[in-house]
Amino acid sequence: MAAPAPSIHPERGGLVLSLPVTAPTSKVRAKRPRAGRQAEPLATRQTAFSPEDYLEWQISYDTTDPEFPTALGDLSFQKEGRRETFYPCELAFLVQHAKGSGLLSAGDFEELCRLASGDVEGGGIEESEKIIESEENVNWFPPAQQYGFRRSVRLTPRYVKMCENYVVEVQVSPKQRAVGNQAMIYLCIPIKFCTDEEDASPIGRVAKKNESLKFKIQRNNADMIKDTVIAFLLASQRHRQDIHRILERMK
Ligand code: ADE
Repeated sequence: MAAPAPSIHPERGGLVLSLPVTAPTSKVRAKRPRAGRQAEPLATRQTAFSPEDYLEWQISYDTTDPEFPTALGDLSFQKEGRRETFYPCELAFLVQHAKGSGLLSAGDFEELCRLASGDVEGGGIEESEKIIESEENVNWFPPAQQYGFRRSVRLTPRYVKMCENYVVEVQVSPKQRAVGNQAMIYLCIPIKFCTDEEDASPIGRVAKKNESLKFKIQRNNADMIKDTVIAFLLASQRHRQDIHRILERMK
């Protein structure tokens, strides 16, 4: 059985995320930070969770599937040059419910609408950033040089907002099936703030088959919703336009 998709449940003034932790190729991946290196994906069925681990969620804001678990079916919208109808989901679901429950204040919602309706000079991160290639004078692997191979390193831009109980990232990477770069947005949630089905911390044990962990969004961490929307608004003109349309539908 495939791992379940992330789901979101409103609960007593807050929101509970349920994030699958055993599918490393899905939109939620468990990761372990490495000093001076990229964080590494974690084989959660073999390696016990430790306190520094986190869940990296490539959160979406729309879908073409009206049956998608968090789709807001009554707020459909169109995109220029696309025939399909889109339905706000995931991040949009969080905004809609946070707005309704007061987790996102009317002032914060207005601020997001204002930001989304404006233009960012020079486009977004996706349009402005470049992946840098640098030739360092380091004999990392001498036999390669012997055969005429020169070493260079690629530096991919990354914008990170580090908060006490969550992190939001915008990562620039080459497009997979097209020319140019893309800005990817990730909402990162520390495992130490997640609980399992028994309301216990999963730290110190491996994941169970097809396990999902719970994370509560409440007053102390609700800014993660606003910060994730802002990340999309900064990421690219395309994302800004989509988010603008969604927020206008929510007004
Ligand atoms: N499109 C939908 N979700 C996205 C994300 N998390 N990052 C970049 N583009 C997206």
